[in-house]
Amino acid sequence: MALSNVTPVLFHLICLLAHAISAEDCPKMLLLGTEFPNFTANSTEGVINLHEYLGDSWGILFAHPADFTPVCTTELARVVKLMPEFEKRNVKVIGMSPDKVENHQSWAKDIKMYAGVSEDSSFPYPIIADEDRSISIKLNMIDMMEKNKEGVPLTARGVFIICPKKLFRLSILYPATTGRNFNEILRVVDSLQMTDKHPVATPVDWKAGESVMIQPSLPQEKANELFAGTHTVTLPSGKPYMRMAPQPAIPN
Ligand SMILES: *[C@@H]1O[C@H](CO)[C@@H](O)[C@H](O)[C@H]1NC(C)=O
Ligand SMILES: *[C@@H]1O[C@H](CO)[C@@H](O)[C@H](O)[C@H]1NC(C)=O
Repeated sequence: MALSNVTPVLFHLICLLAHAISAEDCPKMLLLGTEFPNFTANSTEGVINLHEYLGDSWGILFAHPADFTPVCTTELARVVKLMPEFEKRNVKVIGMSPDKVENHQSWAKDIKMYAGVSEDSSFPYPIIADEDRSISIKLNMIDMMEKNKEGVPLTARGVFIICPKKLFRLSILYPATTGRNFNEILRVVDSLQMTDKHPVATPVDWKAGESVMIQPSLPQEKANELFAGTHTVTLPSGKPYMRMAPQPAIPN
């Protein structure tokens, strides 16, 4: 039976049956602050184990629906250009799609050209071949609305941020039609790394260098000790919960 004859829902079920050898492999809600799934997969840099590959670094796993497609080419090229920013933040990036390693390797030439880097340079990050979609399914990344020409649901553009303790810290899921904003991804890395080190939180649209908020659990005397130049915003409720401070140093 051709895949095109199988409805997407059925296809998803077949995927689940094919890959859910044990209940542990069934897709379940990933919870922030829990250990990120560990997996071993083939990639453009050979077989890699996620946790071992990340070592003591932060990690960003970002997935895309297919090789040789326009939006994905712009995204992976942007990541090539942003490598110094990721390195500065001690972040290892890993790409992933359900295509073969060979496809990734020949597509990498297009990406390098689009990124404006030398064709002789080595591709700066691995791209995982999730050919059987087992990782995409485990990470709940199947998009039932977007399908390829065979009618098979695409894997979504997932972004997963993993800290050095291998905890799952943040995810953003975009559909195939909508390319990501990697400035936002760097921004959230800055916020995560800073708020891991200091008892602060970052307000709406915060950017590196702007004021931050003191976490509500921190007593005022402690806040005065830790931060110079704090101020509390006066609110109609009279409650002093909006305490601002200059941004402490971002690690790295
Ligand atoms: C991840 O998997 C590798 C390879 O199977 C294993 O050596 C390593 O201990 C695993 N890490 C964790 C935290 O389970
Ligand atoms: C990984 O992919 C390469 C390139 O296709 C292939 O030669 C190699 O056998 C694959 N390794 C595994 C373990 O599947």
